[in-house]
Amino acid sequence: METADRSDAPVIVVLDGPAGTGKSTVSREIAARLGLSFLDTGAMYRAMTYWLLQNGVDVDDPEAVAVASAKPVIRSGTDAAGPTITVDGRDVSGPIRGSEVTAAVSAVSAVPEVRVRMVELQRGSAASAPVGIVAEGRDLGTVVFPDADLKVFLTASASIRAVRRAAQLGVADPAGIAEIHADIERRDAADSGRAASPLAKAADAVEVDTTEMSPDEVIGRIIDLVRERAAVPAR
Ligand code: DC
Repeated sequence: METADRSDAPVIVVLDGPAGTGKSTVSREIAARLGLSFLDTGAMYRAMTYWLLQNGVDVDDPEAVAVASAKPVIRSGTDAAGPTITVDGRDVSGPIRGSEVTAAVSAVSAVPEVRVRMVELQRGSAASAPVGIVAEGRDLGTVVFPDADLKVFLTASASIRAVRRAAQLGVADPAGIAEIHADIERRDAADSGRAASPLAKAADAVEVDTTEMSPDEVIGRIIDLVRERAAVPAR
């Protein structure tokens, strides 16, 4: 078995990129294959958004969001075999994928106070990972983990991302796919254009364009990169 010849610091692998590049599936599988923990940071912003909506906070009022965002207790279970997300002890993994949350999450994640809280939780998850962590999001390589062992920036054309998202949701009609495409472009613009920690490729990130790659090809390529950069136990 290969052993970590660096320090005892956890291995940190981050995948950033826009919605629909396959980040979640790919990063969870990489974590599972390498025996690392897994963190879906988008789920955390979604959980915060869900709680705000449930508690009647106007998500388009940044000051109200900033004040209320201190209240919910958000916890991420980072086992790659079964990641969990709870708010105030309640499992919210289903409702955070609903269209109401998806429509509101960009506004919530643009509020600096929300980001400060999420970043603290994300760093805590990495620090307590037994071997290391694969985390996916938008600002992980640029803001949250600037010293990550490996930073990957995943891209894919907006049309292929819309087709993949439609397949995931079971949408087959052209009008439905066009609606998903428009939503993806709207979120890309909001995520890249916001002032606080916009979606951006870190200068030292490796860009992987997944437009014409299968998930297995993407996973294989990134695992090769992890093994080049960090000592992870062989499995
Ligand atoms: O990956 P996702 O679609 O579940 O992310 C939901 C939203 O959260 C997305 O619109 C951008 C935001 N997000 C963010 O601002 N920073 C992150 N690190 C992760 C997600």
